[in-house]
Amino acid sequence: MSNQHPNQPFTRYGDKINSDYFEEYLIKTYESRDKAGLTENIEGIEALVVQVEPGVAKAYIAELLLMTLYQYVRSFEDDTYRYHILRIKPENPTMLVREPLTEAHNGIWTLNNMSVNGQKRPFTRYIGEIYGVNDMKEAVSKQEARHFRFLNELPESHSENYVHWTQPSIYTWNHIGYKKTKTEEYDQVKDYEFDQETLDMFLEIKKLQSDLDFAQYLEPYDHLATRVYMHDREHAILEFLSLTSYHFWGAFNIGDQNSSTNVTRSAKYVDERLSPAKVFTANNTPYYTCHIDDLPSPTENFVLDFGRRMHHLAVGVKDGYIGPEENDYRNVDFVVEKLQEAEKQFLANVIGSCDEGLKQIFSKKSEFSWLITEYIQRCYGYEGFFTKENVAALTQAAGEDDLVT
Ligand SMILES: [Fe+2]
Repeated sequence: MSNQHPNQPFTRYGDKINSDYFEEYLIKTYESRDKAGLTENIEGIEALVVQVEPGVAKAYIAELLLMTLYQYVRSFEDDTYRYHILRIKPENPTMLVREPLTEAHNGIWTLNNMSVNGQKRPFTRYIGEIYGVNDMKEAVSKQEARHFRFLNELPESHSENYVHWTQPSIYTWNHIGYKKTKTEEYDQVKDYEFDQETLDMFLEIKKLQSDLDFAQYLEPYDHLATRVYMHDREHAILEFLSLTSYHFWGAFNIGDQNSSTNVTRSAKYVDERLSPAKVFTANNTPYYTCHIDDLPSPTENFVLDFGRRMHHLAVGVKDGYIGPEENDYRNVDFVVEKLQEAEKQFLANVIGSCDEGLKQIFSKKSEFSWLITEYIQRCYGYEGFFTKENVAALTQAAGEDDLVT
């Protein structure tokens, strides 16, 4: 790219041209973060937090038990929320499903009420990721000195299970949480137990998954994709890189959909299963000029309709095929067929081919979390997160689905 600065600390991919401002401050962001010791201090993603409407958690957990490798572990409450812990293996990010204990109108409610579809589920929102930190006090004080803001002051004394959250990003409305790295427990006031009927239902769902025999092909989350406005794209990425130890992997222009896909990856973990990639998607031109230029606007239309938020969580699918290779019936095709047997709906057929590098598909939006689940199978060691043709087709399918929500 012509305006990329030399001596990039990480290999860059993609063809989307960024502004001179972005290129200059990308390098400065890495330098400043290194100098403050934050790249060293902040580890990978150790948990994801998704909030749902009060009372909806058990339905959402059931959906996750069917669609992912997560197992239900236990539940607890603090003063404000009930949490449900789901895990795969200790090294993969934990999933925390959270439901508010009251319907008090807090910051999440306010954000959701700023969009027409957000209003319909005012407590439902992907909250953010929890990143492990080696030294909490040091990380928070360095970030505060750099003008980053947290929901509250860091308590003088706190347990190593304490999570310290940033204010929602003004660009993504996601939060970043810090927690002492490799701690498995959480601060809690009391345990919460589902009734036996619900626990039995969780076991039945896991048995259904086992009977359908597709989980052997699933991997943990591969990437997490947030949708932002066109004018926020570069700021969202640089702000995120300032708060984490992720690096900018590359931005790809998806001209057909007037969109770009921007990928950041952990500088600590090469393997996405240990710390998924964070992806940002934005229009190339703002929605209000699309009628003049006769361009589509699915990404910005989503943000207008749902507010800035996480759009999809992508589950990896192991590479491989079933039956003769020339039939091109891949593991992901089998996974989708089995989930359809269990009445899960998808937005289109599996897109792409192994000749192009990977196959992927979007589920219909979860009615409990409003998150799409993507299934992505990379073939023969393909390193990308998408092909341009695939993203154009996926973006179009998701855009059409938004219209009927
Ligand atoms: Fe994706």
